[in-house]
Formats: sequence, structure tokens, C-alpha cells
Amino acid sequence: MARLQIDSVSKQFGTDHAVREVSLDIADGEFLVLLGPSGCGKSTLLRMIAGLEEPTSGRILLDGKDITDEAPQRRNLAMVFQSYALYPHLTVAKNIGFPLRARHRSRAEIAQRVGEVAGTLELSALLERRPAALSGGQRQRVALARAMVRDPGAFLMDEPLSNLDAKLRSATRAELIGLHRRLGATFLYVTHDQVEAMTMATRIALLNAGSVEQVGTPEELYDRPRTAFVAGFLGSPPMNLFAADVVSQDGQLRVRADGIDAALGLSAESDEHTPVLAGIRPERLRIDPTASAVRGHVTMVENLGSEELVHVSAGTVELCVRTSRPAGVAVGEDIGLRADPADIHLFDPASGLRLTWQEPDSTSPAVHEVAGSAASVA
Ligand SMILES: Nc1ncnc2c1ncn2[C@@H]1O[C@H](COP(=O)(O)OP(=O)(O)OP(=O)(O)O)[C@@H](O)[C@H]1O
Ligand SMILES: [Mg+2]
Repeated sequence: MARLQIDSVSKQFGTDHAVREVSLDIADGEFLVLLGPSGCGKSTLLRMIAGLEEPTSGRILLDGKDITDEAPQRRNLAMVFQSYALYPHLTVAKNIGFPLRARHRSRAEIAQRVGEVAGTLELSALLERRPAALSGGQRQRVALARAMVRDPGAFLMDEPLSNLDAKLRSATRAELIGLHRRLGATFLYVTHDQVEAMTMATRIALLNAGSVEQVGTPEELYDRPRTAFVAGFLGSPPMNLFAADVVSQDGQLRVRADGIDAALGLSAESDEHTPVLAGIRPERLRIDPTASAVRGHVTMVENLGSEELVHVSAGTVELCVRTSRPAGVAVGEDIGLRADPADIHLFDPASGLRLTWQEPDSTSPAVHEVAGSAASVA
């Protein structure tokens, strides 16, 4: 059992706020990924949970018990670092058994546990080797095995795959997902890699400058980003974001920018003129010669093998379209693009928060629903 509660935790280094008032409730058995750009406070937060760094304020609870001031070795948590930090002079078996030896367990018990964990991680044939004679992925598994040998309630992992090449990363990713299923333990996993987050997490907490921007399932963050930052961080290539206005015309709401005039599929009750930050994902734009929502010309076509990225200049707005190959368009060509109204995201340009339009007589407001005079923050 390991439920982790992070209650308004902050960390200041001098005058720098590395972590600001972060609150997270991580259920037993969850795979929560802390995601965010470099320097946003991921490692600092994880180190505070591990007990390697003291919070400036706030509390950390493990299964309801306040562990904020508990020594690291007394927390039933195992930390796996980016650099594996294996002991080079010890064999794999000794490296894995180290936490048990430090706790003065019997030789027989250590041998049995090391054998079990090595079996789980397919390291049994490598037990007598030293770290220098292992591949990066094997070293990574030894570091994991060393964390597992104590049977901790929760695993804290700080970018454990960042030293691996692309192929090994993807294989180890799959292994970690399997391991999480088998162990049923709580995983708290730090990465700045959105693919790792999207593929492994049961929930993602996206951090920006020390604060949580959004917590939710990968689908929630991708399909319904709470802020423009979340919208722009997830997705490769990222969501197209551009300054626009929501205006009313003939009783209908439209989003307008230079070269763009798209219906939002909502009726307008009164005159509307709201500056917004509009967003649409590259895979949600469709090339259509007859479309009038976006008119522009092709500035570049990138061949990704299975797909193409078509870059389009619509007035002052630059858009990227992700489409199957061949897209059948050439650089310099004038083209039209269309978008489903439900795929257009709107954000407040000042706060970055997601905007919705409420229909006055609607009982079930969905995404930017129908007309209202004023925009409201979702
Ligand atoms: N011991 C320290 N003393 C002073 N500032 C620190 C210390 N540790 C971290 N910081 C600062 O706190 C902020 C958050 O750092 P942190 O290492 O948590 O970021 P991160 O999200 O893990 O970044 P990365 O993805 O690059 O590992 C940074 O601005 C960093 O410079
Ligand atoms: Mg870090």
C-alpha cells in the first residue's frame, strides 16, 4: 500500500521558487508522471518526496502518515536516478543486494531476494558481471532491481531512461509498463519526454515554472488542455496556436484571424468580439481545395516517411498540417484547410486559461458551446 499525498509543497532556493504550492494526491498503484520542461522543478519535487531535500513549506504524507521530517531511509520509498549510480567494483548481484546488506539481512535472505528480482528483470545470467561489462539497458535494469529488492511501497524515478538510445528506450518503456502491472506498486516518474508520459502514465501532472498546470489522464491533457501551455507542450509537432478574435456574424460565432475565418458551430446571442488565443492540432487540419475556413499557401513540405508535414502560411498565421503521404500539394501552391469546430481550442490571451462559450438555454455545456455575450473561463 502506498498512497502519496503532497500537500501545498513549496521549495525556495534563496529567492528562487523551484516548486510552488504543489498539491497532488497519488492513489495506491498509480503510475503518475511528473512532466515538464527543463528547470520546472520536477527533480526538486521528487527529491523532497524521497527526503533528499527539505520543503520550505507544505507536507508530504505516505498512507496518511506525515513523513515530511522523516529520514530518507525510513520512508518506504525507492528512488531510481537518471545516472544509475551503480557501484563499479561490485558485481550485479552485490549491487542489487546492497540495500538489504545495509539493513543487515541474512545472507540466505539476500540471496533469495536477489534471485527473485533478477528473475523478474531477466538479469539472472548477468549476476556475476560488473557494471562496466553491461549495456546501458542492462545497467538500467540493475538500478531498478536494486530499488525493487526492498519491496518498497512506491518507486520514485527521475528520468531513468534518458541515457538509453531510442530503441532501448522504447523497449525499456514497455518493460516498465509491464513491471508496474505485475508489482501493482505506486510509480512516481519524472520525465521531460512527452512520449514517455503519454505511453506510461495513468495520470500526468504537467509542471510549469514550479506550479502544476494540469493533472489528468494523458487523454484529458491532450484532448482538453486546461491552458495554452499544456496545449503547446503536448503533441509533436505541437498544437498550432495563434492570436484571433471570436466574432458574431449572422447569429453565428466565428473565429477570425488574418487568412482564417472558421465557424465555431455555435449560435451567437449578441454582438461578440473577444480576442482569443486559438489552437488546432496539426492532425486535425484537413487539406481541402474547396475549404474557405483557412486560405493560404504552402511554404514547406516535410516527408516523415509515413506522413507529411505541410507548412501553410495563411496571412500572418503559420500553420502546420499533419497528413498521410503523399499530401499531393507543392510548395507555393494556394490551398484551403478545414477544421471540425469541435477541434478548435480557445484560450484567454492574458491568463492562458481555456475558454468556453455557454449556450444560455443549454443544459449540458460541452467544449466551447454556443453563444453567450461573455466568454467564461473553463
Ligand atoms: N540545490 C539547488 N540550489 C539552487 N537552485 C536549485 C537547486 N536545485 C535546483 N535548483 C533550481 O530549481 C529549479 C528547478 O530545478 P529542478 O532540478 O527541480 O528542475 P527539473 O524540472 O528537474 O529540470 P530538468 O528537466 O532539467 O532535470 C531550477 O531553476 C534549478 O536551477
Ligand atoms: Mg531534473
